[in-house]
Amino acid sequence: MTQQAKKLRSVVQGVGAALPRRCVTNKDLESRVDTSDAWIVQRTGITQRYIAGEGETTASLGAEAARAAMARAGCGPEDIDLIICATSTPDLTFPSAATMIQAELGVHGGAAFDLQAVCAGFVFAVATADKFLTSGSHKRALVIGAETFSRILDWQDRTTCVLFGDGAGALVLEAQEGEGTNADRGVLATRLRSDGRHKSKLYVDGGPSTTGTAGCVRMEGKEVFRFAVGHVADVMVDAFADAGLSADDLDWFVPHQANQRIIDASAQKLGIAPRKVIKTVQLHGNTSAASIPLALSAACEDGRIKPGDLVMIEAIGGGFTWGAALIRW
Ligand code: ACO
Repeated sequence: MTQQAKKLRSVVQGVGAALPRRCVTNKDLESRVDTSDAWIVQRTGITQRYIAGEGETTASLGAEAARAAMARAGCGPEDIDLIICATSTPDLTFPSAATMIQAELGVHGGAAFDLQAVCAGFVFAVATADKFLTSGSHKRALVIGAETFSRILDWQDRTTCVLFGDGAGALVLEAQEGEGTNADRGVLATRLRSDGRHKSKLYVDGGPSTTGTAGCVRMEGKEVFRFAVGHVADVMVDAFADAGLSADDLDWFVPHQANQRIIDASAQKLGIAPRKVIKTVQLHGNTSAASIPLALSAACEDGRIKPGDLVMIEAIGGGFTWGAALIRW
């Protein structure tokens, strides 16, 4: 048997989450726009979402999630040398949410920056952190997905405002030497894609260089649905092939929590059994870059995801951008 070379892996050390105080149910939305609990549940699976209130921002939620992840990892501010915050809803145009979170946590070493790939942001952030950690340049990364999408919604537009929620989740990833096999703990494979030709299907109609305002989310829902179900399997198939594994080896599938129907169709396409699919969309709505770490946190907290389990995360978002990461927990 050939001897595999040792390899640096980005190993999960802790996961944390944060939600705003206020929970808004579908019933609550019925008094705001012409919609119904039945329509929202039937089309999306969503029953409630959390909406940020006074004093709650992307950076404050991100810092709370990061603190929880660091506590689970048993590390302090001096141990973190990289912070990547995936967000499309930063508190300010600059500085980044990541540097605001860095200051809040008392982390003074290393680098901190935001990453913008909309709903796929967390997968892009995990892939980016993995490159830093496995190159040996950094030792311990906080990878955060944090959003306050409620602040870029048109609350008169029933086709979008019922879909989204606010929140944050975070992972601590640490560079550790593995045996170089797919039995190693850590990130085993990542695949990222983008296709900028699809801007008109999902975008925000404002920004610093155009309107000078934050703008609101605009979406052609059917087109987004079609693209999501049609394309997201590609990156998962490629990630499995890179790691020499298949969907049969998977313990948990943790997709972006946009819509129950997209989640079910994606799992079915890959032949992933429903019992292996982690779903929190019903409780959180679509929290964009925060949805995967929120779901990971819920499934670790209740004991479903355990060390050694094979976990696939996957997402698609505006751009379009899409990606997948295969992680041995
Ligand atoms: N309440 C009640 N009725 C509504 C609502 C609402 N909130 N929103 C739309 N409707 C109406 C429409 O006006 C339309 O009425 P009409 O037939 O009289 O014109 C009817 O419901 C059907 O509308 P459709 O847009 O055809 O509904 P569809 O079955 O496509 O469901 C949905 C819409 C849920 C947005 C679906 O297209 C979808 O899931 N798309 C994916 C979008 C998504 O998940 N985006 C998240 C961001 S991207 C990402 O994270 C991947």
